[in-house]
Amino acid sequence: MPDEFSGKTALVTGASRGIGAATAVALARRGVARVLVHYNRHREGALETLEAVRAAGADGEVMGANLAALAGIEALLAQLPEIDILINNAGSLVRRARLLEFTSELYDEVMTLNVKSAWTITQAVAPAMIRKGSGVVVNLSSIAARNGGGPGATIYAAAKAAVMTITKGLAKELAPLGIRVNAVSPGTVDNDFHREFSTRQILDNAMAMTPAGRLGTNEDIADVIVFLCSEAARYLHGQTLEINGGMLAP
Ligand SMILES: NC(=O)c1ccc[n+]([C@@H]2O[C@H](COP(=O)([O-])OP(=O)(O)OC[C@H]3O[C@@H](n4cnc5c(N)ncnc54)[C@H](OP(=O)(O)O)[C@@H]3O)[C@@H](O)[C@H]2O)c1
Repeated sequence: MPDEFSGKTALVTGASRGIGAATAVALARRGVARVLVHYNRHREGALETLEAVRAAGADGEVMGANLAALAGIEALLAQLPEIDILINNAGSLVRRARLLEFTSELYDEVMTLNVKSAWTITQAVAPAMIRKGSGVVVNLSSIAARNGGGPGATIYAAAKAAVMTITKGLAKELAPLGIRVNAVSPGTVDNDFHREFSTRQILDNAMAMTPAGRLGTNEDIADVIVFLCSEAARYLHGQTLEINGGMLAP
């Protein structure tokens, strides 16, 4: 179905790099008409993504907002046109901290960025989707939701479990209205995320536990996200697809 995405507008949060950038470009290559490239700190990266989106034939623009704070979420919502495809990708561990050093502020930051932002953005774009009787939402969970996370990542893991559960609940609520909600759950993707939060040893251990024999790439995840947005996934609702090279098959 070559034209299935034509005329559609997609918002990809956290598209300045990593999985989000790869997803924005992959959607443009599949024929999405307009890709909104959200970023937080890396405007340069967002502009590079936009350039690649345009090179793939789509229109687009960049939008900056800190989604770890309600004011930032509201600032993004104030700029949004009607969205057909929402990829709630922006997320982070923020920083590794164990129970005894974890602060209330860090708790709120991790939960707002990974959970509240996805919930609130979905809430904001839903009315137009409901009016049209169509729309797709893909959320980013994590293998951490299944295994409790690595050292100092318990609240991040809990946040990603909340994302998985919200995906199920919203899928049931919105399926009768023509809107599909699903999620992907990456294992270990060898990108900036782990360059920031993990050591080479953590990555080598993850690779050793991966039957596919390598860590994931941004494109491994982006391709599945595009599948979830596509007509081929028309009967998929409320699922969280584990993409981890066979490391975990829950
Ligand atoms: N990498 C992995 O192995 C892995 C595994 C499981 C799940 N995930 C999830 O996959 C998603 C994408 O991660 P990634 O691997 O592509 O990470 P990444 O390379 O670190 O990119 C993170 C993206 O999120 C944005 N972001 C971070 N903090 C933000 C904030 N406070 N407000 C708004 N945007 C913010 C960043 O924007 P700026 O660069 O502009 O600041 C960036 O675009 C995340 O939800 C992550 O939790 C990743």
